[in-house]
Amino acid sequence: MDILRTENLYKYYGKGENEVHALDGVTFSVKKGSFTAVVGTSGSGKSTLLHMLGGLDRPTSGEVFVDGKSIFSLKEEELTIFRRRKIGFIFQNYNLVPILNVYENIVLPIELDGNKVDESYVQEILTILGLEKKLNNLPNNLSGGQQQRVAIARALASKPAIILADEPTGNLDSKTSMDVMGLLKVTSEKFKQTIVMITHNEEIAQMADQIIRIEDGKIVGGERACIQ
Ligand SMILES: Nc1ncnc2c1ncn2[C@@H]1O[C@H](COP(=O)(O)OP(=O)(O)O)[C@@H](O)[C@H]1O
Ligand SMILES: [Mg+2]
Repeated sequence: MDILRTENLYKYYGKGENEVHALDGVTFSVKKGSFTAVVGTSGSGKSTLLHMLGGLDRPTSGEVFVDGKSIFSLKEEELTIFRRRKIGFIFQNYNLVPILNVYENIVLPIELDGNKVDESYVQEILTILGLEKKLNNLPNNLSGGQQQRVAIARALASKPAIILADEPTGNLDSKTSMDVMGLLKVTSEKFKQTIVMITHNEEIAQMADQIIRIEDGKIVGGERACIQ
């Protein structure tokens, strides 16, 4: 079953001479429980695509379907709730809340949704990510790699159906990167999660069930990538 599907997705930024075609007719689908890697050079439209998949921004035209439902037909408030319940985002720039400590950042999406934190699960994630001694630190007292791990923990803590990750291992050394990939593999199998991950790391891309290659806002090598 396709948990995610895009249909003729276009996103243009700017006007006239400054118009940028960040996404130029993107159609593909993602099977529930699969791991999709998105690869492409800088500026090719990867982050824009991820933002559209999670309903963070609206396309110029085209559709994103999650579980067969068009997410852009939702009202802004419904879209916010959908995102909180279904999607775990790992942003390239972490997007941590500077006035909250590590633990508070990690459980924030769960608390915003009025749910109870699964403390033993959060503990398990923290241990694997090596964050258990940093719980009281504020984000600006952490290194880039540590902030990235907090962002990963936050995305996983609510056990979302879909994890959208923008180069989640970009600031990690190769051992930690592989630990993070191992963690994602274990949690995605355990909770039947679907992962869409932007990566520059070929080794990681090769672990995926499907690779989407993007150039100038278009999928290259055929409109639809094949499940390998
Ligand atoms: N908010 C924005 N306003 C204007 N242009 C943007 C914006 N976001 C992205 N772009 C442009 O859209 C193109 C695709 O960007 P992006 O999706 O960030 O690429 P990638 O993540 O592959 O590096 C680039 O040319 C970028 O400059
Ligand atoms: Mg990007």
